[in-house]
Amino acid sequence: MDRISIALSVNGKPYQLAVEPRRLLADVLRRDLGFTGVHLGCEHGVCGACTVLLDGEVVRSCLMFAVQADGYEILTVEGLNTSGELHPVQRAFIEEFGFQCGFCTPGMILSAYRLLQEHPNPSEYEIRRALAGNLCRCTGYVDIVRSVQRAAVLLTQREAYRAP
Ligand code: FES
Ligand code: FES
Repeated sequence: MDRISIALSVNGKPYQLAVEPRRLLADVLRRDLGFTGVHLGCEHGVCGACTVLLDGEVVRSCLMFAVQADGYEILTVEGLNTSGELHPVQRAFIEEFGFQCGFCTPGMILSAYRLLQEHPNPSEYEIRRALAGNLCRCTGYVDIVRSVQRAAVLLTQREAYRAP
């Protein structure tokens, strides 16, 4: 099958690659580019494990062809701690025991990250709604919700610390 040239920016770094039109964005990110934080569970848009941000919006990378992402900026969970430090949302999931096996965690964290950008102080209802498309088979959702609430606090503290 003929390959198509595409340009992606992933976690701030540009990539130029030639892909078959049938290849999923999830497979290209995980297998070709090595972003193994992109987890593949159901592969048909149900579990949310493959969640990434595409130009800042939450998408399921198993429901897109890589060629559809040509020219877009993608954020995977690896992009949250490029400074070498865990992002507050990641730290909060550790502090509040928001994961066990960790399979759903990258998708949960990216959905939570996006929610907190728009709603820095979300209600429990807003958190549950934002994470409704991310399934977890391990923890139940109570600790995950607590993790997002904790992340909101950590992010607010970070902003306060940065304020002049
Ligand atoms: S692997 Fe994409 S939604 Fe489940
Ligand atoms: S922590 Fe195992 S699936 Fe969520």
